[in-house]
Amino acid sequence: MNIRPNNILSVLLLLMLLSLQSFAQQKSFEARVDSILSLMTLEEKAGQLNQLSSGLGMGPVIGQDDLAAQKKLVREGKVGSLFNAIGAGLTGELQKVAVEESRLKIPLIFGQDVIHGFKTIFPIPLAEASSWDLKAVELSAKIAAKEASASGLHWTFAPMVDIARDPRWGRIAEGSGEDTYLGSLMAAARVKGFQGDLKNTSNILACTKHYAAYGGAEAGRDYNTVDMTERTLRGVYLPPYKATVDAGVRSFMCSFNELDGIPSSANKWLLDDVLRNEWKFDGMIVSDWNSVGELVTHGVASDLSEAAVLALNAGVDMDMESRAYIGNIVQLVKDGKLSVAVVDEAVKRILRMKFEYGLFDDPYRNCDKNREKTDVLSKENKDAALDVARKSVVLLKNENHLLPLKKDLKKIALIGPLANNYTDMLGSWTCMGDSSNVVPLLEGIKNKVNASTEIIYTKGCEIKGTDKEGFKEAIDVANKSDVVILALGESGWMSGEAESRSSLDLPGVQEDLAKEIFKTGKPVVVVLMNGRPLSIGWIAENIPAVVEGWFLGIQAGNALADVLFGDYNPGGKLPATFPRTVGQVPIHYNHKNTGRPANDLVKWNSKYNDLPIGPLYPFGYGLSYTTFEYSKPVLSSGKIKADEKLKVTIEVKNTGNYDGEEVVQLYIRDLVASVTRPVKELKGFSKIFLKKGESKSVEFQLGKDELSFYDKNMKWTVEPGKFKVFVGTNSEDVQEADFEVVE
Ligand code: NOJ
Repeated sequence: MNIRPNNILSVLLLLMLLSLQSFAQQKSFEARVDSILSLMTLEEKAGQLNQLSSGLGMGPVIGQDDLAAQKKLVREGKVGSLFNAIGAGLTGELQKVAVEESRLKIPLIFGQDVIHGFKTIFPIPLAEASSWDLKAVELSAKIAAKEASASGLHWTFAPMVDIARDPRWGRIAEGSGEDTYLGSLMAAARVKGFQGDLKNTSNILACTKHYAAYGGAEAGRDYNTVDMTERTLRGVYLPPYKATVDAGVRSFMCSFNELDGIPSSANKWLLDDVLRNEWKFDGMIVSDWNSVGELVTHGVASDLSEAAVLALNAGVDMDMESRAYIGNIVQLVKDGKLSVAVVDEAVKRILRMKFEYGLFDDPYRNCDKNREKTDVLSKENKDAALDVARKSVVLLKNENHLLPLKKDLKKIALIGPLANNYTDMLGSWTCMGDSSNVVPLLEGIKNKVNASTEIIYTKGCEIKGTDKEGFKEAIDVANKSDVVILALGESGWMSGEAESRSSLDLPGVQEDLAKEIFKTGKPVVVVLMNGRPLSIGWIAENIPAVVEGWFLGIQAGNALADVLFGDYNPGGKLPATFPRTVGQVPIHYNHKNTGRPANDLVKWNSKYNDLPIGPLYPFGYGLSYTTFEYSKPVLSSGKIKADEKLKVTIEVKNTGNYDGEEVVQLYIRDLVASVTRPVKELKGFSKIFLKKGESKSVEFQLGKDELSFYDKNMKWTVEPGKFKVFVGTNSEDVQEADFEVVE
């Protein structure tokens, strides 16, 4: 396009008009919010702040009486939001009570944990993060929003953006792993995907969770105490939450854990000072399930009434399921223990969100039964799920090019508890996912190979337990085959909420099964399915080909078969370090150097006396069927000023026999600073596709955003001095160059 002054002027005018329009809209919301607030009794205000789990959309658990009881609460204005009420019909029915039978006709807002798909279940978030493909992840969230909104929902409790450095913590499956930079970009992509343009009926409100530092749980035990310095909190854990504010997220969920002795649901510093005042978040905050009530169990409130005061004063607007607000607000205000102004602010934030989402104008906007039937599990949605599932696969080992397998092999043995498994492919938080829509590995392989290829399947053993009865048949089957594919791992719900493990080994007798199959001398490919990094030392050492398949959702079998038989060349990279043993955790690539960095040749330094140094597989690791050669990074200058940009260029060449994708990763290290800095920090990546023999030059920019850190005075700054820049295929295998930031 030709940019002429006229064009520029019209663009500027248009931008001005748009911002005036949104300002005017905001103004008119404010006036309407104020006018509703002025009509509300204190009881009705408390009702707006109350969120209950309906349970009615989740199957025949709760009967009609409960629907009647819920309708009564809605009619009386005692509930502002329901979750776990799913379906255009059900939500429409409940909404009708709110907007036709309650005194003030304030619409309900319906929430749900739509974490990685609604009916079209996508890979678990940790898997999607392995794709390092922001567009694919955004699309996955967009499709989840489209399907969820077609079933009456307005609001998802996602994205979960907690940094996790400890794979014992089962909720590592729900996030993007250990890294702040990758995690921040993934978090923002998911917000964009869910929310898009909120006027569009296919989008839903997002909710960043769990604020804050929930993933820092001591000993990897869910809900456990978190204690860290403000520097680590701000430098490592907070940026992904902040990234979602910058991406326009409209709500936050506070976490269960305490931080420096204060549970998040009572943490005014976190919620008010940092989130609202420093970051300018102007949306609403919901508690986690009963986390207001748990202030009593934490031991900072003596009863629910005190808990309500603490949470409201800290800035928690909506009380999920503890009924501390609905049960106490009226009395607290009457007794002068709680200011009505605090209650009003919370109510206003909730009403504002309902306005922004258009619920006052069209409370039934997502109650279209026709859409509910037609907008789900479409070919388009399934194709997108397949695309991101393939991108999420990480090739961990491929000795002597065992993979990809030929499609015309005579006999393939498919063994393992996850080989013909439907349910576990959905992972945790399966939402409305139905295992009958899953393509398991067996079916994926059948779809892929030649008609003449025989596939002999046997389970071998269960995921858990000690029974080895199936081993004999598994060994027989292996002996008859040309190649064995062994599908091992965890069950879908061994990760996720309240699913911490003290061991990272394969559960049950699965490793024993692998050892027996290995003894047959047949070529063996292990396909792992799990929701966290595992300690798979024996497998990594002995089995020639290992594929990390996580839980890939309904398209798991197709995606894995595409990879195993070469229709898709894997390019995924680990978003979390694989330790050698559980004793190494917490383990992460961006650790500090210490005064005595690990060195095998000397005794007196920071290492274990019973393990080699370093992880089993480092952060950012993942192989391809092809090979990539990296040139040395070329810098635009050896010296820059703190406010200048440095250009880093690198040539990457596909030197192997396949076309393929590579995630080119850039890390930095600040060599001398006023506080110690990590040995490496990811500050850029670029996912490129290279045809066989093709080269590409990849360019990165480093500037203030990438080089700043919290200095000894907790100031976010760039300090002059020497830096290293590393570019490579994972966090360990890199090429480096040096530069200096000068005064
Ligand atoms: C508790 C979980 O911590 C949170 O992630 C979820 O959104 C709520 N329950 C609601 O299901």
